[in-house]
Amino acid sequence: MMAIGAAMPGMVPHHWRVRIADFALERYFARWEFAVEHLLCASDVQAFPMAELLELADAETRALWDGLQLGYTESAGHPLLRREIATLYEGIEPDEVLTFAGAEEAIFCLANVLLGPGDHAIVTWPGYQSLYEVGRAAGADVTLHELHEHDGWHLDLERLRAQVTPATRLIVVNLPHNPTGMLADRPTFDGLVAIAADAGAHLLVDEVYRGLEFEESARLPAGADTLPGLGLSLGVMSKAYAMAGLRIGWLATHDRELLARLAAFKDYTTICSSAPSEILSIMGLRARAAILARSRAIIAANLDLLDAFFAEWGDRFTWIRPRAGSIGFPRLTVPGVRIDDWAAELVRTQGVLLIPGSQFEYPGNHFRVGFGRTDLPEALSRLDAFAERTLR
Ligand SMILES: Cc1ncc(COP(=O)(O)O)c(C=O)c1O
Repeated sequence: MMAIGAAMPGMVPHHWRVRIADFALERYFARWEFAVEHLLCASDVQAFPMAELLELADAETRALWDGLQLGYTESAGHPLLRREIATLYEGIEPDEVLTFAGAEEAIFCLANVLLGPGDHAIVTWPGYQSLYEVGRAAGADVTLHELHEHDGWHLDLERLRAQVTPATRLIVVNLPHNPTGMLADRPTFDGLVAIAADAGAHLLVDEVYRGLEFEESARLPAGADTLPGLGLSLGVMSKAYAMAGLRIGWLATHDRELLARLAAFKDYTTICSSAPSEILSIMGLRARAAILARSRAIIAANLDLLDAFFAEWGDRFTWIRPRAGSIGFPRLTVPGVRIDDWAAELVRTQGVLLIPGSQFEYPGNHFRVGFGRTDLPEALSRLDAFAERTLR
């Protein structure tokens, strides 16, 4: 006799069916990321060399590294790591921080803990798919707050306020924004915080590109430092800190009850962080002045080149210049040329990868361009040659 719950031969067992849509962008990267010469669409900054990081280590972290035991680690995160992360905020204590395997695990846990059938969430769109997909999969009703190129991809507070319902539990914004490079101005951010406060909803600010503002004065307050009890910051080592391979992310919030629920949920995902990654993250955060300066320098140089490219090709592309981060979302405007076809031909003939807007399910011939990588000059010159051949 078969055990209850066991699979019938030839059938997909019930528990294997994952009830969540494929993450289009990640499937696209799974196909292309390690198969092309130039990623002109990556969102992270050129990876930081580990040997250089070890050279930047202070005596304490070097000793931690040399004496590291490869056992399980503290589930909430290494105490020194949480202490270091807390210093990124105005008023966050180390025990108001919980670490995760990248920002992605944090998103997965948060949406599952906060949202379920009968709950409502509002999420900016186009955007990083898990920010809205996980909530949908958890059974929540998710409203997309669409950003538009014609108004500079800005949040529309009036529309956002109208999207709130009595069931709204969570508002999600991503600032600086993937894929547009939008960064709200201070009055808009304050208005957003007021809307979440009036709704009594948690406000998740996905700040994985924080620190990559082109003008330091444009940096917004962190989500965790707003709305005591309801504001959350999502951070990660992957983008501004150029260490995506560490897979260390975190949530910071004054809502300790929520953190406890997240910690209990995380027992079913990763339990605890990678021991070497935690120590390397402490080193990275302690050396952040140098690391962020390097990231910003790479981006600034590349952005100049992109500005020149789009100035030259202004009658073939739109270019809403990003205000922060390492990505932008221009649009190919040549009649009859579909970005999906054009990008496919580009990667086939030039080995240069762009991400068409269709990977964000966003219509209108947009594509994501990334400018955090040091091979951008070569990638852009190939793009330029390809444009000469196909768009003149
Ligand atoms: C806005 C946003 N949030 C979260 C993530 C996930 O970060 P990680 O891959 O480090 O988990 C990304 C990665 O691209 C992102 O762009």
